[in-house]
Amino acid sequence: MKPQRPISLRKPRPGIVVPRAKPRRFYGLGVPGVDVTKLAGKLIVIEGADGSGRSTQIARLVAWLEGSGHATVQVGLKRSTLVSEELDQAQQGNILSHTTLSLFYATDFADQMENIILPALRAGFMVLADRYIYTLMVRDMVRGMDAAWLRNLYGIALAPDVVFYLNVRPEELVERTFAKKQALDYWESGMDLGLSRDMFDSFLQYQALVAAKFKELQRSYGFTILDGHCSADELNVELRRRIESVLTG
Ligand SMILES: Nc1ncnc2c1ncn2[C@@H]1O[C@H](COP(=O)(O)OP(=O)(O)OP(=O)(O)O)[C@@H](O)[C@H]1O
Ligand SMILES: [Mg+2]
Repeated sequence: MKPQRPISLRKPRPGIVVPRAKPRRFYGLGVPGVDVTKLAGKLIVIEGADGSGRSTQIARLVAWLEGSGHATVQVGLKRSTLVSEELDQAQQGNILSHTTLSLFYATDFADQMENIILPALRAGFMVLADRYIYTLMVRDMVRGMDAAWLRNLYGIALAPDVVFYLNVRPEELVERTFAKKQALDYWESGMDLGLSRDMFDSFLQYQALVAAKFKELQRSYGFTILDGHCSADELNVELRRRIESVLTG
């Protein structure tokens, strides 16, 4: 397949004013008692579907950042010490309602926010998040949950310094996922939604729904969308360039 031209891999034209870094803030009420002005580190989020290349890029960014003297910490979904195992167990069955599963994920996120992300930022670390609240919100929105309720729930989240979204066509995601895992994931194929009995077909439909919701969120949360069909090297160069400008404020 011929690679698509990168959507946003353009250099800014001379004379264009680059916006100043926004002051730190929580999306909503945040975590009580946290002084955001004391968070010296940077929070960098990489979003994208299963197989979009997040881990590949994060591994390279960690090597690059550590090599240039920045201490790093990595977070991601279902990685809290509090509930990650229980969340895995819950997903083996189909017993939780959308709301309780959503709150379970929110708990996993809140635990990492409070016990990993905020302390690391306070200590000046670069925090690399492999997905963030946006994936959680999008998954729930696709399942019919109320967007305002979700926004309120994730008001506990700190607004990152930058959010990248690796945009990859569903057909390419299928190819990559098969090459890597030889199977599609039940949840990532949206099989609980009953879109199709055929997992492959369901995956394509579900990923299209997810991508559309991401586009909606992009308007309010302002992600940087990168063309995930570019080579891993090209993407990494672009990510570094953009992160460098975050680091220099
Ligand atoms: N830019 C790219 N172009 C082509 N293939 C890529 C690219 N980036 C990663 N890959 C390949 O695609 C597969 C998925 O990549 P990776 O594991 O980084 O994705 P991921 O988003 O972390 O996936 P998961 O959701 O499963 O954690 C891997 O086999 C990887 O080698
Ligand atoms: Mg990964």
